[in-house]
Amino acid sequence: MAGEFRSKIAGIGSFLPEKVLTNFDLEKMVDTNNDWIVERTGIKTRHIAEPGVATSDLALQATQKALKMAGMTPHDLDMIIVATVSPDQMMPSTACTLQAKLGCRNIVAFDITAACSGFVYGLSVADQFIRTGMFKNILVIGGEVLHTLVNYEDRETCILFGDAAGAWILSATDASYPNIIMSSHLHADGNLGDLFVLPAGGSKIPFSQEVLDNKTQFVRMKGREIFKNAVRTMTECCHEALRANNVNPKDVDWLVPHQANLRILESVASHFEFPTEKVVVSLHETGNTSAASIPVAFDMAFQEGKIKRGQLILLAAFGAGLTSGSLLLRF
Ligand SMILES: CC(C)(COP(=O)(O)OP(=O)(O)OC[C@H]1O[C@@H](n2cnc3c(N)ncnc32)[C@H](O)[C@@H]1OP(=O)(O)O)[C@@H](O)C(=O)NCCC(=O)NCCS
Repeated sequence: MAGEFRSKIAGIGSFLPEKVLTNFDLEKMVDTNNDWIVERTGIKTRHIAEPGVATSDLALQATQKALKMAGMTPHDLDMIIVATVSPDQMMPSTACTLQAKLGCRNIVAFDITAACSGFVYGLSVADQFIRTGMFKNILVIGGEVLHTLVNYEDRETCILFGDAAGAWILSATDASYPNIIMSSHLHADGNLGDLFVLPAGGSKIPFSQEVLDNKTQFVRMKGREIFKNAVRTMTECCHEALRANNVNPKDVDWLVPHQANLRILESVASHFEFPTEKVVVSLHETGNTSAASIPVAFDMAFQEGKIKRGQLILLAAFGAGLTSGSLLLRF
């Protein structure tokens, strides 16, 4: 019956492809330099999948780790949600492709597109299915092979993005269990959609020779505008999550924000009056991995022994759309 169930995080996992693209590699490709990139973004390296490796391949690796931690097999899963803007193909969904690779039984599987907020959107959707009692074990993935969407002649975007996948398995638990997802808050403002777009490949601009000539198969971004809106929306989302739960910022053990730019994270921490040493940062190694960024940053901090079971953790995201969201959980 509704209201009796909550989601606990039964398992987490992440995967980064082996190949690393450094700032020094990028110096040889576009008019940029390591000092500029580090100073303006905090990014030093990003991981890049080999040709032919798709989002579902990275997702599979992350899922196997999450299943192991949860002590589950793919047959225990009731639903798969993949948050991505770089699906294996437009159709079928990457979630269905992953389902086949995992060898799951006949379950629900679908993708969601909320760009860099995708993982928080996915967790929130999964949490609703668990709260209603409809499903017990849900796999949520944030996965991207973003380098395929990036123009390596455009220095404003190519320095930012990398490939990765992160997986969480949410399981239904009694509402009195302490370590649960407490709340999620999602937002979108489509009026700001033109700040970050992938113009071609959809119904508006189908693929053609003109697309390739104009390079509209690659992302276009108004970086400075995104920066301002990222700080504003993520700060608002952080406040909203804590207000809804009557929690003080000092009680939060870790803020795990979308990993876009170190200066964005520092600015959010400052506006939110939150100590920067309690902000999880992984972007120096991974760059911006869109929907994968929060679960990857979370897992890296968990593997390093920073994030521990029982801690109070706030996730905050923003992305193309413009979408944004937050989620408060006791891990
Ligand atoms: C993109 C971003 C790093 C640019 O940093 P910035 O401090 O805003 O820099 P500006 O855009 O003001 O550009 C400053 C100068 O650096 C130049 N520049 C841009 N990219 C450069 C690069 N890779 N190397 C060297 N110079 C660069 C610009 O051309 C500009 O030159 P100009 O002053 O001669 O016109 C920053 O705006 C950002 O991170 N925005 C958010 C992007 C984002 O998160 N996108 C994903 C959303 S999920």
